[in-house]
Amino acid sequence: MAFEARGMIAQKQISRISVLQCSRCDKVYPLDQANTFASCEQCEKAPLVCEYDVFSGLSRKDIDHSERSMWRYFEMLPVFDRKNIVTLGEGWTPLLPLERLGNIVGMQQLYLKDESLNPTGSFKARGLSMAISKAKELGINNCIIPTAGNAGGAMAAYCARAGMTATVVMPRHTPQAFKTECEYFGAKLILVDGLINDCAKKVAELNADKQYFDVSTMKEPYRLEGKKTMGYEIAEQFHWELPDVILYPTGGGTGLIGMWKAFREMMEMGWIGSKMPRLIAVQSENCKPVEDVFFHRKPEGPSRPTVANGLAVPFPFADKMIQQVLHETAGTAISVPEREIIPCVRQMAATEGLFISPEGATLLSALKIMLTTQEINPESRVLLLNTGSGYKYIESMM
Ligand SMILES: Cc1ncc(COP(=O)(O)O)c(C=O)c1O
Ligand SMILES: [Zn+2]
Repeated sequence: MAFEARGMIAQKQISRISVLQCSRCDKVYPLDQANTFASCEQCEKAPLVCEYDVFSGLSRKDIDHSERSMWRYFEMLPVFDRKNIVTLGEGWTPLLPLERLGNIVGMQQLYLKDESLNPTGSFKARGLSMAISKAKELGINNCIIPTAGNAGGAMAAYCARAGMTATVVMPRHTPQAFKTECEYFGAKLILVDGLINDCAKKVAELNADKQYFDVSTMKEPYRLEGKKTMGYEIAEQFHWELPDVILYPTGGGTGLIGMWKAFREMMEMGWIGSKMPRLIAVQSENCKPVEDVFFHRKPEGPSRPTVANGLAVPFPFADKMIQQVLHETAGTAISVPEREIIPCVRQMAATEGLFISPEGATLLSALKIMLTTQEINPESRVLLLNTGSGYKYIESMM
């Protein structure tokens, strides 16, 4: 009986992916080949996105509840064959009520999703587990990535796990833990003076003869699908009633776009109602292109490094999609004072026992500002998405 039941689950566990298409003109790209971004002439480097058969009858009951990782949503993910999954147990991270902090800021429904518990200490594990699994499925074995830190460590770890070679290009000023983990994972580490856009230039230079597969944010289509699982988990952990507001620390925007994509897919499948949370992009005042474009239509720069390294992305590749998400969810963008970030790490640690990343701490600073300006209603249900662990930034905290 038990065997039969398992057999039935296995039957159902087929990816419902239908196409890979240009995010701007819907031109279809082959699913059985390695793709980066769209090459349609009129779209000029638009990201590619996966579409799924949302009318296949897949229901919430089909989730594999015994799988305590992001792979519980296998049917809505792009890997065809389970044997290609490269996993370290990413996802299914805790959703925690913040009662003590809520009391301090005058809120009764304040929550944090703690992505610091992922392998390599950040939510980047989700995207890179997915990208490296698909790379394996497509026969790729030599990957390169420009990174602010966390994505590089995650790629190096999953490449090690898959037996692939990894090259990581990182700003020289990144805290030591990010460099050391890459070396231990066996990656080739290249340090660059500048920010992630300078690392991207270096990657383009190194990859002039196309010897590597470029896993850059939103230039590679499957990292988004890994990040999307945060949206599925948020819905499931809130018992299919989405929060009113989600604050997200935004660099290249993969998590923001990913959650929005997940919510839309679940709405189309009838898993959740049609109320979309307001998605709020949070950045540091040192690098705030998303806020600048949202309010003034163009990045105002100059961009400087921030202690929230992952947010120092002067020119997000998916800038148009980020703006679309903010507008379509009645969200907004906000930058916070750089000097507030570490004190917010400290406050979260001291009041809730959570040692969060500086990126995550920007959310607390933004929340306080937006409660003061009444852009957030203290009665509403608000989720802070802490993207990473504070432990990797120790020297920035001392
Ligand atoms: C801890 C952390 N939070 C947030 C971000 C920004 O993520 P995204 O580029 O998906 O917006 C990064 C990116 O490096 C990060 O490392
Ligand atoms: Zn196109």
